[in-house]
This record gives sequence, structure tokens and C-alpha cells, in this order.
Amino acid sequence: MLPESQNAVFFNEGHGYLFVKTLGQGQFGCASLVRSLHNGRLYVRKEELRLSEVYSDHQARTQPSREAQLALKVKDIQNVYKLKGWVRHFSSAESKALEVSYWSLCNLGSMNGVYDAARKYGHRLPEPLLCQWLGSMLKTTIQVQQAGIIHRDGHEGNWLLHAENGRVKVILGDFGCAKLREECTQQQWLSGCRSDFANILQIMCLLCGFTDKGTPISMSQVSSYRRERYSCGFMQVLDVLEAIVQTRPRSTTYLHEQISHCIAMLAQVNRPVDLAGLSYLRPTVPKLEFAPYEQARGVIAKNRASFKNWNIATVSSEYPGRASSIKVLGMPREFHDKYYRKEWGSIYQKFEH
Ligand SMILES: Nc1ncnc2c1ncn2[C@@H]1O[C@H](COP(=O)(O)OP(=O)(O)O)[C@@H](O)[C@H]1O
Ligand SMILES: [Mg+2]
Repeated sequence: MLPESQNAVFFNEGHGYLFVKTLGQGQFGCASLVRSLHNGRLYVRKEELRLSEVYSDHQARTQPSREAQLALKVKDIQNVYKLKGWVRHFSSAESKALEVSYWSLCNLGSMNGVYDAARKYGHRLPEPLLCQWLGSMLKTTIQVQQAGIIHRDGHEGNWLLHAENGRVKVILGDFGCAKLREECTQQQWLSGCRSDFANILQIMCLLCGFTDKGTPISMSQVSSYRRERYSCGFMQVLDVLEAIVQTRPRSTTYLHEQISHCIAMLAQVNRPVDLAGLSYLRPTVPKLEFAPYEQARGVIAKNRASFKNWNIATVSSEYPGRASSIKVLGMPREFHDKYYRKEWGSIYQKFEH
């Protein structure tokens, strides 16, 4: 039995986040927006349920998930989403493991959302913005590949956007399908590198309105009518990019040299970006779907003095991370670690809050 609380709030999942809303449901897990009780900021939580037998030994159990490991390899690349921490809960009764990872939030969601919003409101995304995004996507992809990783899933749902100080940054997320160079043959590696760039071209064509979702694009099919909407400098970059992704590169270095040529061409067409009028490119602060966050904050505020010693909190729920009602419990951290390691065997590592 857990001891009665006097002092703090303790989270089932072990480390202080509250569910805000669902962002996306994938085939194996889901991504949700959560709020940290440590600093009140929003983060993204990804959860995936797996069979615990996949963790064959102690080393496998205590290592971060594959996606987290790959993200850690590229953590110093600026436009890649950042892992904030991870936890793995083991339920011995069900032979299941719940993989949980926390990521920095990209406050404008994915390119997919921008595409939908732009279509809905009948806006055309300004060319200077597209130039900036294209350059930044190409550069990021080169850097990730230079770090020895092909992403292999760079569709519009996995390129994210973050607005800060009037600028919009493009961020590459979701390393769930990524592969390390040493896991590929030379041919797989090269075609993976090329298809990462082909995906970028596809997204650009989508954002420009040249194609619809899921339709493979060939620039030569883009009618002159559609081309007229953009300057010939920008269209020329897209043509060059298409030619690059259609040829078989001799080596990664050669491919990267060609892509760098596109980046240089983009710099020529680049003009200052005017975001005025693009209201869907401004972040809105989402509301919580239920109230426990406010309640938990109240409890913490009341017990600030003793909270230092009772630094873990829980919200009762039927499933970690899915709190529906708040039940205040508290315990010293050592007790928590013992209890949870026994029942759920949670292993977690916190990088930053
Ligand atoms: N860091 C983030 N910031 C904002 N939205 C995100 C973030 N991470 C994921 N999402 C949203 O959640 C969706 C699913 O997340 P993703 O990491 O792509 O997982 P999956 O492996 O299920 O595809 C994304 O398409 C995006 O809309
Ligand atoms: Mg995804």
C-alpha cells in the first residue's frame, strides 16, 4: 500500500507530466501534448506498448528505445527534435512494456497541418517562406546523413514547425523508421539518402499546390500555369532537385555536393519573409482537456516548503499518463523507486525539464 500523503503530488508515470490532448495516433502508439508540473511548459509524449520479451537482457531493458537512441545521436543538429527524457514501464502481469519518451514541442505542429490550414483558408504560402523551409530541410537532411543516419520516413507529418520570435523553424521529427549506415548495404544507404531528398521535393510540391497528398510528383508534369505562381528562380531549384533525386548518385559525398548546389541557388532567390496575414503560422496555447493540472498545482503551491523532499507526485489513473481524476499521494523518492521497480519495474532517465 502507498503511504498517505501529506506533502506532495505523485504521478503514476513517475515524473510529473499531465496529459493535455492527443496529437496523433500512429500504428503502434500515440503522441500527446503534455504539461510538465516542474516548469509548466508543454512537451510531446510518445507512447508505445510492446511485449516485454523483446527486452532479452538487463542491457536491453535499461537502454532507451531505438528511436530515442537515434535521436540522441543527432541531438547536436539544430533542426532535429530534441529528446527530453524517457521511461519504460514493465507490467509483469501482462508481459507488456510501455515505452514513453518526451520531446520538445514544435508549437505549429507538422507540415501536414500547415498544408491543411493553407488549403482551408485558401492561402498560398509565400515563396520566400518556402525557400527558407526548403533550404533548411535540405541542410538538416545532409547533417543527419553525415551523422550516419537515413531517416526514411520524411513525409509531411514528420517535418514539424516551431515559431519563435516571429520566425518559423523547420524541425525533423520521428526517427521511428530511421536506419544507421552500418545496418545498410552501400546500395541501400545511397538510395535511402536519395529518397530522403525526394521526400522533401514531394512536400514542397504539396505546399506549392502542385500535387495532392499521396500523389508522386514529377516536376516535368507541373503545368506552366502552376509554375507561373512562383518565380523562375525557385522553380529552377525544384527542377534541379528533381534531376538530382532521379539519378543514381555515385557516392553520398557526390549527392551532398549536388544538394549543396541547390542550397546555394536558394540563397540567390531568398528574400525577407513576411509572415503578416498568415495567422495559422502563429502558435495558440492549447487548453487542458480536464482540470487536474490546476488541482495539482494547488497542492504543490500549498506544500512548497516540503515539496523539496517529496519530489514525486501521482495522479491516479487506470493507465499511466491517462489521468482522469486526481488523488493526492506522496512519498519520498527512495520509496517510490523501490515500489515502482518492484511493481512496474520502471526505468527512466530524465535529461531536462
Ligand atoms: N515535437 C512535436 N511537436 C509537435 N507535434 C508533434 C511532435 N512530435 C509529434 N507531433 C505530432 O504527432 C504526430 C505523430 O508523431 P510522430 O513522432 O510522427 O509519431 P509516429 O511514429 O506515431 O508517426 C506528428 O505527425 C505530429 O503531428
Ligand atoms: Mg510520424
